[in-house]
Amino acid sequence: MIGTGYVGLVTGACFAHLGHDVICVDTDKEKIKNLQDGQCPIYEEGLKELIANSEHLKFSTDLEESVKKSEIIFVCVGTPERDDGSADLTYVFDVCKSIAPHLKDGQTVAIKSTTSVTAVPDTRALLDKSGAKYHLVSNPEFLAQGTAVKNFLEPDRVVIGSDDDNGFRKVAALYENIDAPIVQTNIESAMIIKYASNAFLATKVSFINSIAALCEKVGANVSDVAEGMGHDKRIGSRFLRAGVGYGGSCFPKDTKALVKIGEENGLNLDILKAVDSINVNQRQVVLDKLKSHLNTFEGKNICLLGLAFKPGTDDLREAPAVYLAKELLDSNSNLQVFDPIVKKLDGIDDSRLVFKEEAYRAAQDADAIVLVTEHPEFADLDFARIKELARGNVIIDGRNFLDSKLLKSYGFKYEGIGI
Ligand code: UGA
Repeated sequence: MIGTGYVGLVTGACFAHLGHDVICVDTDKEKIKNLQDGQCPIYEEGLKELIANSEHLKFSTDLEESVKKSEIIFVCVGTPERDDGSADLTYVFDVCKSIAPHLKDGQTVAIKSTTSVTAVPDTRALLDKSGAKYHLVSNPEFLAQGTAVKNFLEPDRVVIGSDDDNGFRKVAALYENIDAPIVQTNIESAMIIKYASNAFLATKVSFINSIAALCEKVGANVSDVAEGMGHDKRIGSRFLRAGVGYGGSCFPKDTKALVKIGEENGLNLDILKAVDSINVNQRQVVLDKLKSHLNTFEGKNICLLGLAFKPGTDDLREAPAVYLAKELLDSNSNLQVFDPIVKKLDGIDDSRLVFKEEAYRAAQDADAIVLVTEHPEFADLDFARIKELARGNVIIDGRNFLDSKLLKSYGFKYEGIGI
C-alpha cells in the first residue's frame, strides 16, 4: 500500500486482518516510526486495534524493497482539488514514476486513489517505462470516515476495473472472504463509478436541502418529508438528512472534479454545479437564521457544538463549522467551541475562539448555540442545565438532531433546517 492516509491505512490494516501480508509505505519517516510503535495517526473506529494486533502488517519507508516484495501494489495517495476544481494527480504520477524502475512482469498496480479517467494514458505511459508486463487495475474505495473499517469488511460492493482478466482475478482474490458482489468493469468505468457514486450522494443531500427551504415556506417538515420519501425503495432513506450541508475531503472535491472531467470532454454537468452551490449556500442559511435572532454578531458569545465534518471523525476538511467559525470571527463575535474529538482548529489563531473541555462550558454565557456536527453524545446533554448556563435562548440546530419540542419547553428559541 503506497500512502498511509485514511485510505491506505484502513485498506492495508483490513487486508492484513483478512490474512494477506501487507506493507504500508510512506515517505513520512516519523509517521512510519509511530505506526511501527503501534500509534495510529488518525481517529477511525477499530483501526488502532487492527494495527496493533496484526502480524501480517508491516510499515516501511523503503519503496523499492516494498515494491519488489509485493504481488500487488496499491496506489493510495491523495488527489487534492486544484484551484480550477480538477483533481491534482501529481502524487499519483509521482508514485508511478517511483515504482516503475522496480516493476517486474506479472505484478499488478491497483489504483485506489480517486483518479480521473483522463489520467489513464499518462499513468500507463509512466508505468510502461518499466518495460515490465504488469497489470493495471482500478479498485476504487467507498469507505466513509468514522465507519471505514466496517465499510471495508462489509461493503455493499467491490468494484474492480481492468483491461485484462489476470489483473482482475488477482485483485478479486484479495476480497474472497468478503461477502459482497464484485463488479467487474473496464478501468474507465471503475473510475467513473467512484466519482458518480459520491456525486449522486452529494446530489441527494443538496436535493433535500432545497426541499428543506421549500418546507420552511409552506409549513412542511423536511424530516417528515424525507421519511415519507425514503420508504420508497427506489429512493431510499439514506443521505436525505437536511442540514448545514456536506463537507469532508470527498463530496466537495469529487463533485467539482466530475464537473471538470465533463468540461474536458465537452459536456456541461450543470446538475453538479447546482449541487455544489446549494451546498455552499447551506452555511449561509445557518448564519442568516442566527442573525435573524441576534441582529448583529458583533460582541456576541456564540457556542459551536461540533466541528468535525461529520460524527466519528476528527477531520475538519471542508467542515461547515470551520466556515462558520471564520465568518463569525470576521463579524467580531466570540466563539466558545466544543467537539468531543477535535481539540484544535489549524489555521485559526484568534483569541476570540476558545476551546472548552465540555459542552456545558461552551454553552456558558452564550447568546446563541449552533449545533454543527451531530455527535451522538449531544443527544444526551441536559438542555435544561444548558438553558440555565447560557445568556441567551437561541439554538440553531444545523443537523435537525435535537428534540425541538423538549428544547422549546425549556424556553429555547429553537430553529432547525426545514422543520
Ligand atoms: C464519502 C462516501 O460516503 C464514501 O462512500 C466515499 O468512499 C468517501 O466519501 C470517499 O470518497 O472517500 P465521507 O466523506 O467520509 O464518505 O462521509 P459521508 O458519510 O458520505 O458524509 C459526507 C458529508 O455529507 C458529511 O458532511 C455529512 O454530514 C453530509 N451528509 C450526509 C448530510 O449532510 N446529509 C446526509 O443525509 C448524509
